[in-house]
Parts: sequence; structure tokens; C-alpha cells
Amino acid sequence: MSPDSHAIETMLLEERRYEPPPEFAAQANAQPDLYERDWRELWETEGRERLTWFQPFTELLEWEPPYARWYVGGTLNVCFNCVDRHVEAGNGDKVAYHWEGEPAGERYALTFAELQREVVRFANALRGLGVAKGTPVAIYMGMVPELPIAMLACARLGAPHTVVFGGFSADALADRVNDMGCEVLVTQDEGWRRGTPVPLKRNADEALESCPSVGRVVVLQRTGSAVSMRQGRDVSWQDAVSGQPDDSASCPCEPMDAEDLLYLLYTSGTTAKPKGIVHTTAGYLVGVATTHHYVFDVKPDSVYWCAADIGWVTGHSYIVYGPLCNGTTGVLYEGTPDYPDKDRWWEIVERYRVDILYTAPTAIRAHMKWGPEYAQRHDLSSLRLLGSVGEPINPEAWRWYREHIGGDRTPIVDTWWQTETGMILITPLPGVTTLKPGSATKPFPGVDAAVYDERGNEVGPGAGGYLVLRRPWPAMLRGIHNAHDRYVETYWSRYGDVYFAGDGARVDEDGDFWLLGRVDDVMNVSGHRISTIEVESALVDHPHVAEAAVCGRADPQTGQAIVAYVTLKGAEEGSVAMLEELRDHVARKIGPIAKPANVVFTPELPKTRSGKIMRRLLRDVAEQRALGDTTTLADPTVVEEIQQRAEAEKSAE
Ligand code: WTA
Repeated sequence: MSPDSHAIETMLLEERRYEPPPEFAAQANAQPDLYERDWRELWETEGRERLTWFQPFTELLEWEPPYARWYVGGTLNVCFNCVDRHVEAGNGDKVAYHWEGEPAGERYALTFAELQREVVRFANALRGLGVAKGTPVAIYMGMVPELPIAMLACARLGAPHTVVFGGFSADALADRVNDMGCEVLVTQDEGWRRGTPVPLKRNADEALESCPSVGRVVVLQRTGSAVSMRQGRDVSWQDAVSGQPDDSASCPCEPMDAEDLLYLLYTSGTTAKPKGIVHTTAGYLVGVATTHHYVFDVKPDSVYWCAADIGWVTGHSYIVYGPLCNGTTGVLYEGTPDYPDKDRWWEIVERYRVDILYTAPTAIRAHMKWGPEYAQRHDLSSLRLLGSVGEPINPEAWRWYREHIGGDRTPIVDTWWQTETGMILITPLPGVTTLKPGSATKPFPGVDAAVYDERGNEVGPGAGGYLVLRRPWPAMLRGIHNAHDRYVETYWSRYGDVYFAGDGARVDEDGDFWLLGRVDDVMNVSGHRISTIEVESALVDHPHVAEAAVCGRADPQTGQAIVAYVTLKGAEEGSVAMLEELRDHVARKIGPIAKPANVVFTPELPKTRSGKIMRRLLRDVAEQRALGDTTTLADPTVVEEIQQRAEAEKSAE
């Protein structure tokens, strides 16, 4: 495994620099002295002052690699910090979320006081269904206010949750529910996506056929479509909460230990089985709230919009837990950016006077493709700061974002982090950092990041290598659920007590970090991590497929696109019908995001003599570049054959 040298070569050398505007710098939450703080002092102070504790912590950190314990001895409740304390402080009338449904005209504001009442009612309902401290709960919903309400109700009771992205299939849902052993599932009849209903309850029913641990299901009526309800198991959200008291005393916030499990979030790794990333209570909340405050320069009157889905970690940390902990007003949008037209996002920015917008490069590139005229229809002058996350942002998209959305005046924070890191780790501080389009710039204060070569030596300026983290941080994962060996193997085996992120990177002469994409068999499609092996398993699951190999190729819009090389059983030849069937099969097994963009049918796959598929060569073919070292190939003619087929397919397009 070596960092992708092509990625390094093709990195654009972007010379232009953007200094923070002086007016922005003067009022910024983060000032230059933040970088001078001792990391222990910084996290201790943030922990003490940013959160409200039931019992103060006695020790900042216990570090027994590869497991950290932060804020040892402290007790607290995440829901109390995100909701109740704001109401108690007299901010109950402040808006927590401006919710915007996808269908025209569906919108309302939810204040912190209303949020508290809804959370208490739903927590009481969950208690009635047998949920108590420690009961694992799965949540499979779209972007409706009831999704954060369900998460917060779980946190209030001390019941760990796993949120499963509403775009995932029944199979993907079942895997996650079973891995965590969830006893209750919260879902909805249907979601809205680009004007089409998404059958969440139907998928859930299919999943639950193979989920024996789930005894109760709560079903929110969102679209109002008739869905089947199983007697004794299913209850509608509306029935479950009706008659439940909504005063906070009726359901007090459970005191939780700093290290109690808050949630699992499943993410792709280098095997077919998704990893249940473990996030605990205090360190996670300190990490996300602190970074949210400094990186996004959030003010008491800000209207902050993170346009991600709550089903991904970005939504957990920067739509729900970080912003609510800071008492911030946020926007929650249910649908797609192009419904009913391609200016929907900009209409929302104008309507709520959004001042901070956080999104992904793939979305920015989609807007670029549609053209700046959609943004020009609206007054975007409220925007003060833009953010990017999920994959490297190409300098061209960076500049388009700043010019057409940010009015050529807003700083852009390009934030690097992962499901595993829980919080942003490499990022500009908007009032301090000189920006370079395409660079995530510097480690957040208190974070120790570096770039290592194969042997574990730090590489010099300009050279590519592997991104590592050399010191624990509060929101770091506390392992993989029920998989200690995999945890050690994936993140801690390469360089001992140093965290291996799986990303390539280089650091330039100014100490700025440039991220170069994944170095393992994980693809990044529209900012979503998908493992090659997961897609391969889904393909091989099809009765006609003998073997499959999958890799990513560069795609101008989605970052990477999935290319599948498939060998069919017997003497069967590939066909367009089979291609479509296989794409649909993958969508059914994993979800539409994992559909291969191309399928190349081939009689053989390139393998080493020991039988390992050489994905590196397939990537070369997919990206139409000269082949790397082929000396370990068992049968070199196989690649030539595949190359010819790929070319033939290309010219047929
Ligand atoms: C990639 C999303 C470059 C990276 C928060 C990482 C990025 C993976 C950036 C994590 C960025 C995320 N620049 N690459 N600003 N942000 N990545 O777990 O490869 O869904 O390892 O977390 O996305 O994806 P995940």
C-alpha cells in the first residue's frame, strides 16, 4: 500500500492566498492566542466552562493506548446540555431549528422550550415502551425534527442510539440493528426526496424480518401514507406521545458517566462488515461544541445551516450535538437542493438570513454545474462564513463557492475529520488563518497531526505520506463495537501508539496540510465512505455473478465514482440488461449511493499468485493511466483483456 502518487502529481499548485478580512478577524471567537494554549489546559477549560456537569470531573485524561478516557469521574447528561439548560437560562423562546420540509410551504420554527417539551414527551413514550438507561435504540428516519428529538430523548434516558441514514436499504439497516442488538426502532412512514416518497417503513419491515432483538417500533406519520402496522409491535409516534407529560420533571435527565456510550455510528472500512464506531458522552460533547464555536465563529444571533444529513457523522456532530450544546439557532432542511428548482438552498439562505453555511464539495460542484444564476436570484448577503467537509475540495470549486455564494468576501473553512474522530481536527480558524484553496490548513489547537512515511518517520515539507494523529483528542472514538482486534488492526497497528487515519496527505513549507484522499480500499463517493469489499459482496450475492472487484475512479462531480469489474458464472456474457440488474441489486443490498457508475464484464480478474485481487491495477485501468507494477500478476494477459473491454465500453458511450 502506498499513497497514491497520481493524486500527489495532479494536485494543483494553487498560489492564491486569502487573508482573513480585518473586520472578521477583530470579532472572531478564535484569536491567534488559541494556538498558544497548552493542550491540557485548553481541553480542561473548555470541558469545565462549556458544559454543565452534575458532578465535576477529577482527571482530564487517562490514556492507555489505544483507549482514552476523558473527563474522568465527571457525570452529566447530553440532553440537559443541549436543551434543558438553555431553557433554564431563560432562552426558551430562542429558535433551536427552523425546519423546512421539502414540499412547498411546509415549514415551522421549533424553540428550545418547544424542543424540550417534545423531547420530554417522546422520552416518556420510549420509557413506556421499555426503554431505560442502556437500552440500544435504532433510528431510521429522514430529515424531520423528530429525528433530533428521538436522538435527544435517547440521550436524556441514557439509551444509546444508532442512527441509520434513511437512504440505506433494508439489508444495511438489519446489519446495523443486529450488530448493536437494538431493542426498539424509531422510523417513519415515508420520507421525501426530490418529490418522491421514500418507503422507510416498508424497508424497516423487510429489515425487521431478520432482527429478532427488536420488540417495539415507533412510526412517525410524515407523508400520511397508509403503511402496515404490526399489532403488538408497532405504534405510531402520535399515539405513543399522546397523553404523555411534557414537563421536564416528569422525565429527569439521567446522570451519565463521562465515558458512558452516547451512540454508535456505522461506517465503511476495508471489509464488508461496517464498523460500529463508539462515541461516548463528555469528551464527544466537549469536542464538537468547542470546534463548533471556534471553527464556525458562531454568535448568539447566528442562523447556522449545516446542509448534511443527520444520518452521517457531520449531522450528528454539527447539526445536533455541537450546535444545540452551544444554544445555536439552526436550519433543518428535509429535501434535495434541486427541488422544486435548483435555487432551493439559496431561497432558504435568504428566508432565514443564514450567516454560516456548511456543506460538501460534491454539493458545491453540483451547484457549479447548474450555474451561478440560481444563487443570483436570491439575496445571500447574510452569509458571513462558508464551510466544506467530506472530501478534498478542488481549488476551482473553492473559488466558485467563495465568489458565487460568499460574495467574494466570506472566509471558507475546509474542515478535515472522520466518523472516527467525532470532531473537526484539521481546519482553518476563520479570523486567524490565511486560506489556500484546496488546503485544510492547520491542526485545530490542541491537536497533534503529522504526515509519516512507511517507516514512521515524519516526512519533510512537500512530500506525500500518511496522515497520523499523535495525541488523543476528546471526541475520538473509543473503539469499534464488539471488535477490539479490528480496532487495533485498523488504526493502531501501523505506527504503534499513533492513530492512522487512512488518508494520504502532505504538509507544505508553511505547515499547511493538503489531504490527498484515502489510501485504503475505501472509496469516497459524494463525501460518503463506501468500502470496495462491501460493494463486491453485494455483487457476488447476485446469482449470476462469479466474482467481482470494485474500485473508485476520479469523477468531476462526485469526487469518486464506483467502477465494478464483474465475472459472470458459466459462459454467460454481459449485457446492458444485466448491467442495470447488477446496479439495482447493489442499491437493494446497500443503498442507491453505492450503485456502480460503470460495470465492466470480464472473463477474469487480475490476481496475484496468492489469489489477491490487484485493485491497484483496476484503478489504473479505470482512470485510464499507465499501469503500475504488474510483475506480481499471475496472468498479465488478464489486464490487457480488461483494458480492451474498458476502452470498448468507453467508445460505446
Ligand atoms: C474524507 C466525514 C479532505 C477523508 C466528516 C476522511 C476529507 C473521510 C475532508 C471521512 C476534507 C473528510 N478534506 N478529505 N476537508 N473531510 N474527508 O467518516 O478521506 O464520512 O478520511 O467523515 O472523508 O469520512 P466520514
